[in-house]
Amino acid sequence: SECRNGLCFEPLWTTFADSVVKLRIDHSCSQIPITVHQMFKETVDKYGPLNAMASKKNGEWEKITFAEYYNLSLKAAKSFLKLGLERFHSVAILGFNSPEWFISAVGAIFAG
Ligand SMILES: *[C@@H]1O[C@H](CO)[C@@H](O)[C@H](O)[C@H]1NC(C)=O
Repeated sequence: SECRNGLCFEPLWTTFADSVVKLRIDHSCSQIPITVHQMFKETVDKYGPLNAMASKKNGEWEKITFAEYYNLSLKAAKSFLKLGLERFHSVAILGFNSPEWFISAVGAIFAG
């Protein structure tokens, strides 16, 4: 916690990946907080075989389902870890709006 003028409090934001912040939780909301991974897994359980994304490759539409999106994101996460990504570190994704961008973004979250 941070202390100023004798008052200590949990800050609401930080620029340090390993420091603590106070979560702004709306207690009037009945939704139980879940992780991005839990939310994605629930989506795969409900909508696994349905299309999640479509993109044009060489003039042809290529579609991937939520189950494929999830699997590819897991693969990206494992690849980032294999390449040396550590928990609370960052991934910078340089690229255009594409399935690879989204798979990398979710993969980075899955890798912690
Ligand atoms: C995703 O991975 C699981 C576990 O390896 C496999 O059973 C499933 O067939 C895969 N699904 C797709 C759509 O690739």
